[in-house]
Parts: sequence; structure tokens; C-alpha cells
Amino acid sequence: MRRVVCPGSFDPITNGHLDIIGRASRQYDEVVVAVLINLEKKSLFTVEERIQMLQTVTKEYGNVRVDKFHGLLVDYCKQQEIPAIVKGLRAVSDFDYELQMAQLNYRMSGVETLFMATGPEVSFLSSSRIKEIVKYGGNVSGLVPDLVQELLVERLRG
Ligand code: PNS
Repeated sequence: MRRVVCPGSFDPITNGHLDIIGRASRQYDEVVVAVLINLEKKSLFTVEERIQMLQTVTKEYGNVRVDKFHGLLVDYCKQQEIPAIVKGLRAVSDFDYELQMAQLNYRMSGVETLFMATGPEVSFLSSSRIKEIVKYGGNVSGLVPDLVQELLVERLRG
């Protein structure tokens, strides 16, 4: 079984995340989408809400499992017997941070990190920008799944 993890905060999932998860699902037998439980960071959606959204929008892929983790990602990988992490790279600005994390994760555990170039049609997306746009009345259709857009509008303008 060739298994890989796509980790993140997913607060909330965007079409950029979905691009990477969907493409990873075509390369591996199973993709585990792992939501970080970070009690120090204020989030818009609870971990359970994020998991539910992820499960709904990844259902069609058939080989994506959604889970949560806390602590070090590499410890989660070892515990779940996942040998590699898949990360999307949007631009050069992502690279420094991601390279450092990939090297540290490999040094700590031998868990590999594989980078996938985000599709150019979604490479400008981030969850923070999406939340800002919705908060101030902008339209994010086509940038996040419809369900996510509805929940964002309800939470931020409700
Ligand atoms: O969506 P994000 O917030 O950019 O995802 C970052 C994430 C969750 C992948 C990263 O912060 C992470 O792996 N956190 C868990 C703690 C950890 O393992 N840190 C790496 C030390 S090198």
C-alpha cells in the first residue's frame, strides 16, 4: 500500500489544497489528509468542522482519508506508517519555509517530503486571503468548494 500524508491547517480548505490532494490521490493508493490540532492558533472553524468539510469535498476521490494530529507531523507519520509527506508549492516565497521543514523532518525521522507544483489557476490562493475576502463582502466562488463558500459566508457575515 503506497500511502502519503497531506498535512495542514485547512482553515478552511481551498481549491488550491484540493488540487494537490486530488493529484496526490492519483499517484498513491491512499492519501491521508491530516489536520493539525493547534491550540495556540485561533481558527475560524473547529478541527471537527474542518474534518467534516474535507471529508465531504474529497469523497469523490475514493482513496482519501481525513484525520487529525497534534505534536510533530513525523511522529504521526511513524505511528500511521506513512513514509512520505506531500506539500504543494505555490511560489518561491513558500520554498524557504518548506525546505527547512522538509529537511528537519527528514533529519528527525527519515520521512520524505515530496513537493508538487500547485496548478497556476489556484496558485495565488490562501485560506487567510479567502477569509479576508469573504469577511469584507467579496465573492470567492471558484476559489473554494461551494459548500465551503456557504459556511464561510454564514460564519463571517452571519
Ligand atoms: O497549513 P499550514 O498551517 O501551512 O500547515 C503547516 C503544517 C501543519 C504542515 C506544519 O505546521 C506542521 O507539520 N506542524 C506540526 C508540527 C511539526 O511537525 N513541525 C515541524 C517541525 S520541523
